[in-house]
Amino acid sequence: MASLTIRKLDDAVKTYLRLRSAKNRRSVEEEVRVILRELIEGREEPLTPFAVPPAAPTVGPTPQRTGAVPEASVTLIIGGGIAAYKSLDLIRRLKERRIEVRCVLTKAAQQFVTPLAVSALSHERVYSDLFDPQSEFDAGHIRLARECDMIVVAPATADLMAKMANGHADDLASAILLATNRKILLAPAMNPLMWNNAATRRNVAQLQRDGVVLIGPNSGEMAEAGEAGIGRMSEAIEIATAAERLLRPPVPRPLAGKRVLITAGPTHEPIDPVRYIANRSSGKQGFAIAAAAQAAGAEVILVSGPVGLDDPQGVTVKHVESARQMLEQVQAALPADIAIFAAAVADWRVANEGEQKLKKTSAGMPPLQLVENPDILATISKLTDKRPPLVIGFAAETEHLIDNAKAKIARKGCDWIVANDVSPATGVMGGDRNTVHLLTRDGGEISVDSWPVMTKEQVAVELIAHIAKAVANNTAKRETAT
Ligand SMILES: Cc1cc2nc3c(=O)[nH]c(=O)nc-3n(C[C@H](O)[C@H](O)[C@H](O)COP(=O)(O)O)c2cc1C
Repeated sequence: MASLTIRKLDDAVKTYLRLRSAKNRRSVEEEVRVILRELIEGREEPLTPFAVPPAAPTVGPTPQRTGAVPEASVTLIIGGGIAAYKSLDLIRRLKERRIEVRCVLTKAAQQFVTPLAVSALSHERVYSDLFDPQSEFDAGHIRLARECDMIVVAPATADLMAKMANGHADDLASAILLATNRKILLAPAMNPLMWNNAATRRNVAQLQRDGVVLIGPNSGEMAEAGEAGIGRMSEAIEIATAAERLLRPPVPRPLAGKRVLITAGPTHEPIDPVRYIANRSSGKQGFAIAAAAQAAGAEVILVSGPVGLDDPQGVTVKHVESARQMLEQVQAALPADIAIFAAAVADWRVANEGEQKLKKTSAGMPPLQLVENPDILATISKLTDKRPPLVIGFAAETEHLIDNAKAKIARKGCDWIVANDVSPATGVMGGDRNTVHLLTRDGGEISVDSWPVMTKEQVAVELIAHIAKAVANNTAKRETAT
């Protein structure tokens, strides 16, 4: 069965749904269900109000709506503590971060903030009653528990935490917290004596064992005159940031601060202005490595021969044709921390390149004289001044793969070789999959790590992970030496 994400609907549709659901005192989801049911039963309301109604005259500045599509949704449970007023700001802070907020107020919370204020800020109906026939006709508490990416409890009172730790479900908030399989973030707020009470200590420890995440409490002055200590609820901005971090954990960037130079694709060696010698390399493997290195936080320079691929985002791409141009661009890109030579560089070029298009003549075929191209891998591996600390070559072989690759490491002077069998039967050249062996040199020893068949993107991610590990090991070694 397909599912419908309200936040991805057109703005006009969302506005209509919001107005209609507010008028009928239903949640937006409930309203959609009612509309669908009415449609099926053939008694739907006319849908003319789809047009956004003209704005009512306002006093003072017109409220600005960002119009940004929410990327995540949170069920915010507001407990019955004096810090509940801060949750009004929290709603705003979450929404600024493109997080949709649906609020649940406990009975006690309503003594501190009104459902009207909460619903006006969240632009959603507020929930508080477990036995509400309007939302429970289809188990609304289960939807509140699951139709969200995370549950935030702020303030998390001592009472609410005690109920959670012991699995109570006698009101809407505790029933949602027991019925959820989403991450839960608690922002405790209470008097320091309540926080330090043995019962609260036990409950907090139990909740942490259950995988619940806590932010705060901070220490400072209490609402009660003259009292201070640990128990102040974290500020709204701290809670919103913690929620955002749980919803969108930072991507690890193990190559941040590193400059990675990569070559990819074939080279074209001209015969005359219109003809060239080439090979079947598609550039897919080198481009995938560039994208993976960029995703790992590196600054990436990709020197590419002629390929039919889009430049990877966030990568500096230098387009070249021939091996000599490729070497020139590689040298210009130095210094680099890591160099990965994945290009299938032509070993030879035509010595007597025609200035004009060669013509058929009665004298027969023109003789093509070949001369050796510069060896980019060997040239860079043997540099004395600007040699990148880690130089990786590729060995595309059609026979004796490992032996040839071992010999290549020694001959070229590089550190690692990625060896792949490019016999036509493998479909590697131009294909989407690759079977590679990673040969690494540690002093005189060469070890071989054979990987299973993978997509070229997976090979790229795996190679970057190995590089990141080597970089981290080297950094650790340097740090212990100093
Ligand atoms: C003025 C006032 C302030 C309160 N502040 C807090 C508080 O900050 N933290 C807390 O745990 N309980 C506080 N309480 C007690 C709770 O309101 C009470 O334990 C309530 O049952 C908690 O309800 P809940 O489980 O819905 O949060 C306060 C009570 C009053 C009368």
